[in-house]
Parts: sequence; C-alpha cells; structure tokens
Amino acid sequence: MIKTEKLTFNYSGEQPNVLKDIDIEIKNGEFVAVLGHNGSGKSTLAKHFNAILLPVGGTVYANGINTKDESRLYDIRRAIGMVFQNPDNQIVATIVEEDVAFAPENLGVPTAEIRETVDWALDTVGMTEYKQHAPHLLSGGQKQRIAIAGVLAMKPKCIVLDEPTAMLDPIGRKEVMDTLMHLNSKNAMTIVLITHNMDEAVNADRVIIISDGEIVKDAPPHIVFSDVDEIKALGLDVPQVTELMYELRKAGLDVPSGVITIEDAYKALSEVAG
Ligand SMILES: Nc1ncnc2c1ncn2[C@@H]1O[C@H](COP(=O)(O)OP(=O)(O)O)[C@@H](O)[C@H]1O
Ligand SMILES: [Mg+2]
Repeated sequence: MIKTEKLTFNYSGEQPNVLKDIDIEIKNGEFVAVLGHNGSGKSTLAKHFNAILLPVGGTVYANGINTKDESRLYDIRRAIGMVFQNPDNQIVATIVEEDVAFAPENLGVPTAEIRETVDWALDTVGMTEYKQHAPHLLSGGQKQRIAIAGVLAMKPKCIVLDEPTAMLDPIGRKEVMDTLMHLNSKNAMTIVLITHNMDEAVNADRVIIISDGEIVKDAPPHIVFSDVDEIKALGLDVPQVTELMYELRKAGLDVPSGVITIEDAYKALSEVAG
C-alpha cells in the first residue's frame, strides 16, 4: 500500500535531514502505529505518504504509484486519505452531510451516488443520526469522526491519521479509536495512525518508532514494548499496563515483559498469585 525506499528529506538545503534513509513497507489491510517524540519527523513522514511532500532522496510508492509522478497525483490522493489533528480545520460545511459530501461533489461524482456514499460513510463512523446537525455543535470526537467520514467518502484504500486524538477528551479518543479498529477489521482499510498515546498504539498490528528522522523500531507492539528501558531512553512512555508490570518486575515479582493488554496482565498476575 505504501513503500518508501531510502527516503530522505529536508525542508531546506541548510537544514540537516529531517528524514534519513527511511525504508518502510505497509501492506494492504495492516494497522500500523507510528510513534516518536516531538520533532522526530512523524508528520513529515506522513506527508510523504500522499504526496503532500516529495522526497529529496529516495522514492515513495503510494498504492504502487511513485509519488513524484505528477500525472497520478489525483489517484494517489484518492487512494490514501489524510486526517489531521484539529477537527475544526477539516470541517468546511455547516451541515454534517454536506461536509461529508464536499470532496466527492468537487470531483463531480453523480448526485445519487454521492448520497449513497455519504450515507455509507456516516453509518461507518456511527454518525448517521447527526447528518442534519451543525458540525460546530458536535463534540471533538464526533467532529473527528465526521472528518474521517469525509475522507471515507473518497473511497480510499488507506487512511493516514496524524495525531487525530491529540485534542480530544478520553471519550472522544475512544470513539475515534473504535472507529479506526472497526474500519480496519470490518472494512479491511489500511490504517496508519500517528500517535502520542501508547495505549492507542497497542491496538496496531505493528508499531514503528521514529527518532531524529530514523526508524529505530518496527515490530508488533508486544515486541516493541518488551524493552521498557529502551523505550524510555527514546523519550517515550509505554502503555499503562506495561508500566505497571515493569514496576512489579523491578520490585521482584516474577511477571513477564511485553505485557500490553489488561487481559494478559490479569493472567500473569493470577499465575504469580497461584
Ligand atoms: N515547514 C517546516 N519547515 C522547516 N522545518 C520544519 C517544518 N516542519 C517541520 N520542520 C522540522 O522538521 C523536524 C520534524 O518535524 P515533524 O515532522 O513535524 O515532527 P513530528 O511530527 O514528529 O513532531 C523538526 O525538527 C521540525 O522543526
Ligand atoms: Mg507532528
């Protein structure tokens, strides 16, 4: 779905490279989380996935298309949708269903087809009952789900989300995460989620950690989070339950590393308790 080969990038010749020799392959149907401290290059990387930025060195393929091929920009943007941090910046209309219809309308999709697509997109994000509402009156989580519906209306194969939950409260964060997991499991949508929240990252098939423009980890979450000291040395946290098990292990309890779910923690603690 997305492939980068020795991707290198800087915003200006005087600046050191912000991305350095990045090799990533994201397959169709995968759910990948991208982590990294502030300024590590996450947003810059994400913008290469649908040709908002073009490599200075190396190559990016989006849905098999070289992003440097200007004649295919439309195909790239249709295949790979982007959702950003602030839902308010992504809403363009005063009625929810008009907002979701905005992109296909601009593309000249026939009206009947648009109606069907918009209904499907709103249903998929669980916002059908709000279709006549004013977006600015909705909660942050609801607005972000509308933004996701707006991207879905383009019928993409992949959605890249750059810290979509950063401005949301816990309920909004859960709404958005549930929506993404549903899209991935039920609609086989490829999801690339950039996040600061480790408890969100454990839901991914794979976690990629980027540090100062380089990939330092690329593995399933229980592997990535098994070395707590290493993750902390990268300036990152681990999931709450992983932290708890880490502290218990340090205190001398015989519990395994790489525990990332409450269920596994419960199992490990039951075994210790006998
Ligand atoms: N438009 C820009 N012009 C110049 N430098 C930028 C620009 N955007 C980001 N940078 C720099 O690129 C580096 C990576 O930034 P970014 O990709 O936004 O990181 P992240 O999303 O991980 O916080 C940082 O050093 C940042 O200051
Ligand atoms: Mg960023």
